[in-house]
Amino acid sequence: MDRYSVFGNPIAHSLSPQIHQQFAAQCQQDIAYSKSLIELDGFEAAVNEFFAAGGKGLNITVPFKQEAWTLAEQRTQRAELAGAVNTLWMSEDGKLCGDNTDGAGLVNDLLANNWLLKNKNVVMLGAGGAARGVILPLLEQAPARLLVANRTLVRAHELQTLFAPYGPIEACEFKELGGQKVDLIINATSASLGGELPPVPTDVIHENCRVYDMVYANQGTPFMHWCQQQGARELLDGLGMLVGQAAESFAIWRTFRPAVQPVIDELRRL
Ligand code: ATR
Repeated sequence: MDRYSVFGNPIAHSLSPQIHQQFAAQCQQDIAYSKSLIELDGFEAAVNEFFAAGGKGLNITVPFKQEAWTLAEQRTQRAELAGAVNTLWMSEDGKLCGDNTDGAGLVNDLLANNWLLKNKNVVMLGAGGAARGVILPLLEQAPARLLVANRTLVRAHELQTLFAPYGPIEACEFKELGGQKVDLIINATSASLGGELPPVPTDVIHENCRVYDMVYANQGTPFMHWCQQQGARELLDGLGMLVGQAAESFAIWRTFRPAVQPVIDELRRL
């Protein structure tokens, strides 16, 4: 049976095995998909061991995506720019290949919910690894503008410089968001991990401003609840993105593109 795994630390709460088993069931393929807790200094050895033992593909999660990028001998353009890799596999001539499917997972979820990006004013909160990983696919949807707001302005400027050749990207601090026209706001900060809210001025959120939080949470995230209090009516958490990035990985490995909605629905019921 072909073997796959997700490598991370921590990993206990990963939904990837469930998601990939459901994809496999859709196409009546038998795969083994495990989750592996990897020591912080043991990533490279674990990857080498996995593929040497005949493993077919890996998903990579926190905190190893940058290290996976470094290890990959061949990278897709979107992974190259993301600076991070979440999907690994071996080419036929034995080269370790890396892709980043996070951005495609996000964009496909937005489009599946009819949240079209073309000509829209999009704000991205955060300029860390999570934000960088999705910017190219967002710009490929031709928004009017992608404004990256970050606590540390220099990091937002770095992303602006990196991605400027690919679309209309700008950078600012949170306080400069006040008074901006915003159709969609995407939370890519890790603020909620510390139980905090990104300091978005209250007048940014309004009833026609759609809100996406890249974290998944069945009861909504603190940021989503706060936006609702400010009048937002259309909000999504990151479950669709999670399933979507997995679907892209599965398609790379198995040349079958699974349906995401039944899997999202199933996970919502848990
Ligand atoms: P990740 O891979 O999750 O993106 P990261 O690279 O450490 O992790 O980036 C975390 C992001 O969340 C950064 O944009 C960070 O802002 P800074 O660049 O100023 O550090 C942002 N962030 C974390 N906690 C935050 C908070 N309490 N308020 C606002 N932004 C926060």
